[in-house]
Amino acid sequence: MSDNKELFAIFGNPVEHSKSPQMHNAGFDNINFNGEYIKHLIEDGNEVKNIFLDKHYKGVNITVPHKEYAYKNADEVRGLAQKIKAVNTYINENGKVIAYNTDAPGFLKAIESFKDVKSVLLLGAGGTAKAISLALQESDIAVTVLNRSESKLDFFKEHDIECYSWDTFKPKEYDLIVNSTSAGLKDEYLPCDKELLENVFKTAKYAFDCVYGKITPFLALAKENNLEIKDGEDMLLYQGVLAFEYFTNTKADENLVEAMRKGLKG
Ligand SMILES: NC(=O)c1ccc[n+]([C@@H]2O[C@H](COP(=O)([O-])OP(=O)(O)OC[C@H]3O[C@@H](n4cnc5c(N)ncnc54)[C@H](OP(=O)(O)O)[C@@H]3O)[C@@H](O)[C@H]2O)c1
Repeated sequence: MSDNKELFAIFGNPVEHSKSPQMHNAGFDNINFNGEYIKHLIEDGNEVKNIFLDKHYKGVNITVPHKEYAYKNADEVRGLAQKIKAVNTYINENGKVIAYNTDAPGFLKAIESFKDVKSVLLLGAGGTAKAISLALQESDIAVTVLNRSESKLDFFKEHDIECYSWDTFKPKEYDLIVNSTSAGLKDEYLPCDKELLENVFKTAKYAFDCVYGKITPFLALAKENNLEIKDGEDMLLYQGVLAFEYFTNTKADENLVEAMRKGLKG
C-alpha cells in the first residue's frame, strides 16, 4: 500500500458478521500502528496461502471452515498448533508463511478468573474442543471429553485424552464444565441431557460457554445450579489479542486489551 500501511484480514466463509476487524482496528488506533484490518471472504480453503501472499497481507486470522487447510498450507507451524493441526493466525515473516493457533491460549486466558481448576468436563469434539483439550492437557489440567457421537473421538484417543460418547459416559467430579458444542449458538438446545448436566453441576464450581454474547440454555442451567458462569467473549478477545501481538510484534498491556474489548463490543 502506498503509505506503508500494513494490511490484515479475517479469512473465512462467511465473514460478514465477524467482529475481528473492529477489534483489531481499535488495537491499531490504540498503539498508533499504521495498519488496516478487513474482511476477506474465501470460498476455497486451498487458496488461503496464495491469497495471503498475492494480496501482500502482513497477517491474517483464519476462521470456519478453513483452519485445517490453513494448517496444511503453511510454510511453518509453531507451538501447540502442530498438535492441534488447525491454525487461526498467519504471519508473513520475510516471505515465509508462519502459522499459529491462538484459540487454545486464548481459552486458557479466558478461564484464568476461575481459581483452582484441576479437572474439566469438555462437551463437544469439534475443532474448538481439539484446541481446548490440548491446551488443558499442556497445562496439566485433567480433561474429559464428552460428545454426542462416537465418530469424532479418535483425535482425543490418539492424544490420550479421556473421552466418551453420550452412550458410554461414566461421570466423575469436575471443577469446570465447558460447552464447546454449537448447541445454543443459533438454537435453544442444551449440549446434552439435562439430568446429566444437573448431575455434574452438583459438584462443579464453574461453567464456561464458547458461545458469546448470550446466556445460552447451558449457562442458564448452570447459574440455576449456583455455578459461576462465563460466556465466550474473553476467549474471542484473547485469541485476538495474542494474534495482535504476533501481527505488530508488541506485548499487549491492559490499556490495549481494554481498547480491543471496546472495539469488539462495537
Ligand atoms: N468464543 C470464541 O472465541 C470461539 C472460538 C471458536 C468457536 N467458538 C464456538 O464454539 C462452538 C463450536 O465450534 P467448532 O468450530 O468446534 O464447531 P464444530 O467443529 O462444527 O463442532 C461442533 C460440535 O458440536 C456438537 N454439536 C452440534 N450440535 C449439537 C447439539 N445440538 N447437541 C449436542 N452437540 C452438538 C457436534 O457434535 P457431533 O460430533 O455429534 O456432531 C460437535 O462436537 C461454536 O458455537 C462456535 O461459535 C467460539
